[in-house]
Amino acid sequence: MRTPLIVGNWKMNKTASEAATFVGELSQHLSPPPTGVELVVAPPFTALESVGRVLGSGSLIQLGAQNLFWETQGAYTGEISAPMLKDLGCRYVILGHSERRTLFGEQGDGIRRKIQAAFAHGLRPILCIGESLAQREAGSTNEVLTQQIHESVSGFSAENLTSLTIAYEPIWAIGTGRSATTEQAVAAHQTIRSVLAATASPVLAEGTRILYGGSVTAQNIASLLASNQVDGALIGGACLQVDSFATIAKLASITRSIGV
Ligand code: PGA
Repeated sequence: MRTPLIVGNWKMNKTASEAATFVGELSQHLSPPPTGVELVVAPPFTALESVGRVLGSGSLIQLGAQNLFWETQGAYTGEISAPMLKDLGCRYVILGHSERRTLFGEQGDGIRRKIQAAFAHGLRPILCIGESLAQREAGSTNEVLTQQIHESVSGFSAENLTSLTIAYEPIWAIGTGRSATTEQAVAAHQTIRSVLAATASPVLAEGTRILYGGSVTAQNIASLLASNQVDGALIGGACLQVDSFATIAKLASITRSIGV
């Protein structure tokens, strides 16, 4: 049984002090805490410390980062390493987000090195993959997903891969208000799971959480999670308001506990 995971990707939003206020309010909204669901917030690097301090140890809400660089330390101006994130209390790290790929030129092998660094330092990577609208319309969605998995996930040990999460994020659905339908998400998740089964093992594929991301809201989360193929969500816009993130977290808990 895969525990659903809800991750808020704040992107480049909120200063350290705004972030601290926000998580303080969010914690209050989530009382009593929703059960049977794991919650993560991924603020900008500059807010990790203040958010971690407000949450404290043993919080229901865990800390994630939005990126890392694969080296541990050294002359890499502007970069942040896995040990630095770990030291701030991060448990998860989002890697290969389509904005990193399209705006900052990240590609398969570099993303693979980042995943390796995450594994080496005890961070749980959330690998984002997904097709563009042109690729979907050309009928190459499965091919794109397969290639993205092969490039970044092959060659790791089964032990490492147990901490991997994959987020299926069709580029055309991100920030557009046009979410994939549940059927489209389920079909992509099935493809991803079968590629994982072939690349790693069927047991590993069965245990790996696959999240959906792209215009997830409090209105569509329940229908997306209704399929047991969708193990949670990576959320951008809708995680920036306390109300909507808290509602999504509660709906995720209810949807799974009543087994819709
Ligand atoms: P969105 O972003 O929810 O605003 O579409 C999702 C993401 O980029 O992870």
